[in-house]
Amino acid sequence: MNFSIKKICCIGAGYVGGPTMTMMASKCPNLIFNVVDINEERIKLWNHKDLSKLPIFEPGLRELITKTRGKNLFFSTNIKKAISTADIVFISVNTPTKIRGLGAGKSSDLKWVEASAREVARYSEGHTIVVEKSTLPVRTAEVIQNILYSAETNSKKEDISFSVLSNPEFLAEGTAIKDLETPDRVLIGGENEMAMLALSEIYEVWVPKDKILFTNIWSSELAKLTSNAFLAQRISSINSISAICEVTGADVREVSRAIGRDSRIGSKFLDSGPGFGGSCFKKDILNLVYLAEYFGLNEVANFWEGVVNINNWHQRRITEVVIKKLYGTISEKKIVVLGFAFKANTNDTRESAAIKICKDLINEGANLVINDPKVSAEQIENDLQIEENSSGKMKGEASIKNKTGQWSFSRDLNIFNDAHAVLVLTEWEEYKHIKWDLAVKEMVKPCWVFDARSIVDIEMVKKAGIKLWRLGDGSEEEKMTNF
Ligand code: NAD
Ligand code: UGA
Repeated sequence: MNFSIKKICCIGAGYVGGPTMTMMASKCPNLIFNVVDINEERIKLWNHKDLSKLPIFEPGLRELITKTRGKNLFFSTNIKKAISTADIVFISVNTPTKIRGLGAGKSSDLKWVEASAREVARYSEGHTIVVEKSTLPVRTAEVIQNILYSAETNSKKEDISFSVLSNPEFLAEGTAIKDLETPDRVLIGGENEMAMLALSEIYEVWVPKDKILFTNIWSSELAKLTSNAFLAQRISSINSISAICEVTGADVREVSRAIGRDSRIGSKFLDSGPGFGGSCFKKDILNLVYLAEYFGLNEVANFWEGVVNINNWHQRRITEVVIKKLYGTISEKKIVVLGFAFKANTNDTRESAAIKICKDLINEGANLVINDPKVSAEQIENDLQIEENSSGKMKGEASIKNKTGQWSFSRDLNIFNDAHAVLVLTEWEEYKHIKWDLAVKEMVKPCWVFDARSIVDIEMVKKAGIKLWRLGDGSEEEKMTNF
């Protein structure tokens, strides 16, 4: 059967569904894209006239929205209508780690995927190509197929039928538009060749054919998890080396540069930082761990779990360095935290290293002033579960049990007065241009800059007389010890 594609529905208007459909709509003006979500507030923001109110921040997204929204791209909560008129339905809903029940802490919670599949089963008409866009455990397509094929046999609508494909998304936040415009590859897994070709034809409008890979559906699902596991593994590897650098006098940036020149290793993804964050790395590795354990492959499970364990240890290590350098106590000391997003150019804080590090610092009694150019104070309060300016009071708690530190938020950078230290956690461009010669005048002496992203102007910091600690910089450590 040849498929004629005119209308596309995407269930889930999040960090993936929103930008992906916007890119497709901009490239394929002859197709109609309906992006639907159960979250009314999110849809309102996608439809907001003021583009600074879009629910996610991605460089280049506003321009594409201006080009497409209201023309061939529509955001709504009318799920029934969008599904019933669609030739292709992308499922792009959240798949977080399960927090309770069987597989809690490791396996993915497929509640939202199952609900989406049931909606497709209920509302679709004619033949529908159903595409897994969410990252899913291997063999999830089977769950979706079971729900849909059962609808094929039980539905009163005689002509409904489905083809299920896997088409995982590889975009990274902050570079989503660039990644979607020129992807390294597009992966399409499935059994129905005509359905795979129909999906491929959409991508072929702007992606060279040799970048579109066809696999079986299980390889496609596993390739997505493996890709994230390999990327996260590189970060844990280089972060573990940063700790060795600090005690041996080596510099992790020099080590990265040296190993990155080996074309078999490659130079990307070798920046040591405060530990990987983001909604997916940890979740997808834990998914792999769960899969391996399920099949009795315990050594495989332990290997991958080690990547997450190193990440947790590394984040705690940064807090400990700060405490140690500030003479073993940070109680009532003001520390400026630069950056709360899990990486630059996004407002996303999911699994950000800043969450754990800030909680630990507050617990140790520090008074934090947190700056981030895109994250809101409300989001930080939600993540820390500690009210702003509340001496460590947990959200909803009536009285302060133990005196701990507190935090407040500032959107501007006039925040260095009386600070004992500045801790850089996100690599925002503006932090590269801070005038340390002016900042130092307001800080408590001796004062510190702890740079966990290797972005501050080293010469200016040193010239200003500020003590500098850079992640993985053993050469600095050596000089200080000798001194
Ligand atoms: P998200 O939480 O930002 O968005 C998911 C959206 O789905 C939410 O707005 C939610 O309200 C909506 N939703 C849930 N159930 C629904 C239902 N039954 N009907 C309609 N809407 C529903 O998540 P995200 O970051 O966009 O990630 C989505 C998937 O893509 C995940 O599986 C993730 O692993 C994967 N992924 C994410 C990224 C990324 O950079 N964030 C990159 C590649 C892949
Ligand atoms: C990651 C992958 O890069 C995407 O290919 C994938 O589609 C996505 O996960 C997903 O499945 O959700 P993302 O999490 O948006 O994308 O961002 P990354 O650029 O991968 O960064 C992840 C974390 O690693 C960030 O905290 C970042 O600061 C950190 N990182 C990255 C480093 O510490 N060092 C590096 O060299 C690179």
